[in-house]
Amino acid sequence: MRYAIITDHTVEALYGGAFKGASIFSFPPGEKYKTRETKEKLEDLLLESGHTRDTTIVGLGGGVVTDIAGYVAATFCRGVPLVLIPTTLVGMVDAAIGGKNGVNTPLGKNMVGTIYHPERVIIDTRFLKTLTEKEYQNGKVEIMKMGLIADESLLYSQDIFQAIEVKRRIVALDSRETGRRRLLNLGHTVGHALEHLSGYEISHGEAVSLGIRIECQCAYRMGLLREKDWLIIEALFPKQEIPYSQEELKSAMLLDKKSKGATFRFVLLKQIGKPLPFEGEYCSGVPDTILSEVLDEYVVCKCASP
Ligand SMILES: NC(=O)c1ccc[n+]([C@@H]2O[C@H](COP(=O)([O-])OP(=O)(O)OC[C@H]3O[C@@H](n4cnc5c(N)ncnc54)[C@H](O)[C@@H]3O)[C@@H](O)[C@H]2O)c1
Repeated sequence: MRYAIITDHTVEALYGGAFKGASIFSFPPGEKYKTRETKEKLEDLLLESGHTRDTTIVGLGGGVVTDIAGYVAATFCRGVPLVLIPTTLVGMVDAAIGGKNGVNTPLGKNMVGTIYHPERVIIDTRFLKTLTEKEYQNGKVEIMKMGLIADESLLYSQDIFQAIEVKRRIVALDSRETGRRRLLNLGHTVGHALEHLSGYEISHGEAVSLGIRIECQCAYRMGLLREKDWLIIEALFPKQEIPYSQEELKSAMLLDKKSKGATFRFVLLKQIGKPLPFEGEYCSGVPDTILSEVLDEYVVCKCASP
């Protein structure tokens, strides 16, 4: 059995030395490199280095790395074993758990990929010591998201292993995301649109944090979410200005996989820890008037770009 480690340049510089003798394939860090081009380059390098179906792919890095490594493993020689070693908080509590992988395309985020489960996920929280404060905060947003959809105590404990357990439980019930797994998308319809529009200058965590606030505000305005819960969410997820017009934002949001025709569908909560099931869909259409009213509080660009 041979191992091929896929990582990014930052993680390689920090931790590559601990994997002496292994073949390491790395690419520049950042969401901008979560592309088909990066995947192709990695595959060519693997083949040129003589890797075959006997190889186990090891994804060592943040969510960008684990998403790409998973996608490479799913298709390399029609599928080879995969081990993930997440090194960011987002990777540990979310990206490395549940088998989803993929890349972004010029039309949107995570548009191409597969569901392919790793044989093993190794969580070693010592990696977090070198994480920047901003990246750490990004991970806390995903932990709080798990709290909102499944377990209020997580909002306050922010316990990594409790969050992983929530994700594992949800994925086990709906691996192919035909229903309940959509809950993990809370905040992501707006969040992915913001990331995409910013050319990935806005980080995943920042975008999802604002997305959670906006999507929960819609649930509150629709009379679904209790006021006392909305007040907690409003305090935990800070308001930020959106430098795009409503039209730009809405057309980016329509690329979301939950959208149906021209209807935006959000994961909606009735209270913290209690999402609305909507007949097993776990997401529901939001009236355009409500969405427009809510977005109006955030967008600073009132007209569509030329
Ligand atoms: N597949 C899924 O289910 C799923 C779930 C959530 C998020 N994601 C994806 O995960 C990605 C975001 O993940 P992320 O926030 O980990 O981003 P990332 O992978 O870009 O990592 C953030 C930065 O931290 C650096 N880094 C990684 N480990 C480090 C360490 N230990 N010390 C210092 N620096 C380190 C990286 O080089 C990078 O610059 C997005 O693409 C998102 O779509 C996927």
